[in-house]
Amino acid sequence: MLKPIADRMAFNKLYGFFIKVRRGGTGIKGETMNKKIALIKGDGIGPEIVESAVRVLEVVAEKYGHSFEFNSYLAGGCAIDACGEPLPQETIDGCLASDSVILGAVGGPKWDGVPAEIRPEKGLLKIRSTMGLYTNLRPAKIYPALKEASPLRADIVDQGVDIMIVRELTGGIYFGERGYREGKYGEEAYDVEAYSVTEIERIAHVAFQTAMKRNKKVTSVDKANVLESSRLWRKTMERINKEYPEVQLNHMYVDNAAMQLVRNPSQFDVIVTSNIFGDILSDEASQITGSIGMLPSSSLGSTTRGMYEPIHGSAPDIAGTGKANPIATILSAAMMLRYSFDMEEEAKAIETAVDKVLNDGYRTADIAGNSAKALNCTEITDIIISYIKGF
Ligand code: IPM
Ligand code: MG
Repeated sequence: MLKPIADRMAFNKLYGFFIKVRRGGTGIKGETMNKKIALIKGDGIGPEIVESAVRVLEVVAEKYGHSFEFNSYLAGGCAIDACGEPLPQETIDGCLASDSVILGAVGGPKWDGVPAEIRPEKGLLKIRSTMGLYTNLRPAKIYPALKEASPLRADIVDQGVDIMIVRELTGGIYFGERGYREGKYGEEAYDVEAYSVTEIERIAHVAFQTAMKRNKKVTSVDKANVLESSRLWRKTMERINKEYPEVQLNHMYVDNAAMQLVRNPSQFDVIVTSNIFGDILSDEASQITGSIGMLPSSSLGSTTRGMYEPIHGSAPDIAGTGKANPIATILSAAMMLRYSFDMEEEAKAIETAVDKVLNDGYRTADIAGNSAKALNCTEITDIIISYIKGF
């Protein structure tokens, strides 16, 4: 049976042990680490927000005595412009030779006309699958300071929203068979949603193990009243749940889940779902929390090498204006420190700084509402950095 997180933890321990042995260290807090981080800045606001995350990471490295080496690689529209393809081999090699990857965002209307097989998004999907990143964690929580930014009624928001969406990332319709054929009404296009037992099992383990560290509740979202792949999904979730008797599992159809997310989001702890349902529900969940500019994500496989990116897109309409909110990318960098580098204290330092910055009333345009003065991307990054330095 595959137990990815358990494997990863075992790997972490082993890896940590080797580092300690190599350095002759004791493993106590404050141990320095050297890490190689690949940067895929991408398109639109990508370069600005990645720049903010790098500045934050540099300050963390200085403060905690680590050394981070950053190398930039092209992917998405900018790679199409420079090399005629959205994911050059050099980028793949660079990512695989790094300890982790930070990605801004890819795509934009400029590349809407390019052939489907070289669209910017293809580059993103290919790097996810090449790196084997089948687990996408998308935490959606409401910051008390941003309650007003939520479009939901105050009495709903007051119940609290703290959801971890566990999205399967390398299977399903995104990677299924596709094409054109002659159908009942003439030419038609098709995309196949298919899931293997193995793919469902491994994401189920991640969801249950994630829930064990939270409120021990998993909602598995599917469309089992219609789709065969969802029926297999449901059956497999139930079977794996038996290995985690403390975790309470319930099932929800995706249409109902979309409704429940706005009706009563506090009912959710961990949501586990397929690639496409997770894509859609995580955008919905992000808006409930106030702004899509706030939500980070981590993508992991069976090693500690992950890819960390905001869940939002490249926002070409505001690129270069300074209006981009870098917080989702900065929080993604914090997730990288926690999940890939086992640097809990450093991750917390970033998250606490963001909390405090918001509590003290600093805002970017997307979360400013009518009252507060909006800071630009660089200004809010400067403030987050000054808070980290101050701890
Ligand atoms: C996301 C994005 C991507 C996805 C696109 C850009 C391919 O929407 O990360 O949520 O659908 O996975
Ligand atoms: Mg999406």
